[in-house]
Amino acid sequence: MIVILLGPPGAGKGTQAAAIVKSLKIPHVSTGDIFRANLEYETALGLEAKKYMDQGQLVPDDLVVRLVADRLSKPDAEAGALLDGFPRTIVQAQALSDILAAKGKKVDRCLLLEVPDQDLIARLSGRRLCRSCGQGYHIISSPPKREMICDKCGGEVYQRDDDQAETIKSRLAVYHEKTQPLVHWYQSRGLLKVINGQNDPQTVQSEIAQALGL
Ligand code: AP5
Ligand code: MG
Ligand code: ZN
Repeated sequence: MIVILLGPPGAGKGTQAAAIVKSLKIPHVSTGDIFRANLEYETALGLEAKKYMDQGQLVPDDLVVRLVADRLSKPDAEAGALLDGFPRTIVQAQALSDILAAKGKKVDRCLLLEVPDQDLIARLSGRRLCRSCGQGYHIISSPPKREMICDKCGGEVYQRDDDQAETIKSRLAVYHEKTQPLVHWYQSRGLLKVINGQNDPQTVQSEIAQALGL
């Protein structure tokens, strides 16, 4: 099953992904996470992506599309994938449908997590993440028990470079300009399901499970 998690920065895509991939037994493919992992190891891809990510801009389509095509050709993606943060432009959506068509597959569902901009700013500016296991925190709504230390694994809790006020503003503007047109793209193909991302994470998870018939 190919499922897309669509939604603005901070909508809760990463938060919800864990439960979905566990139920569907498919890999979580987050292009943002792949870029960050590459950056950690200072690969050419990571250093190239950083130029755009630090500005809150999109990494060029051809680079992202090649990366996803490669990821979807791995054996664990045979059963499908949960795509988080991809596609983000109409060019990427078209490329995805071509990649899948060549494998006799298609997008099965596109879940849109809807959250108003003012909530997104509060979520992103307070977000913290574990450097070792990726567990997400929020300094106000869900802080780690010990400051800067992950509850789950004891790893270091850090703030993403692009979660600074100015960069958050650019990311939201880029979402509205370049990514929001995908809502209509998937709606017109009968694949879109709108999820109210403003509810608490557990309620959002239940709504997603229902939308996927889990
Ligand atoms: P990416 O890593 O994909 O970031 P993003 O889309 O901006 O989304 P986020 O990861 O910031 O938010 P999220 O929706 O995962 O929210 P989360 O669950 O963490 O991309 C980063 C960059 O990489 C891009 O800017 C671009 O440069 C590049 N890139 C990536 N993909 C690309 C592509 N396809 N094309 C081109 N460039 C690409 O939650 C956020 C916070 O809210 C957390 O603190 C969490 O605890 C809290 N929270 C979550 N759910 C709730 C809830 N229900 N109620 C209250 N708080 C909640
Ligand atoms: Mg994310
Ligand atoms: Zn951890």
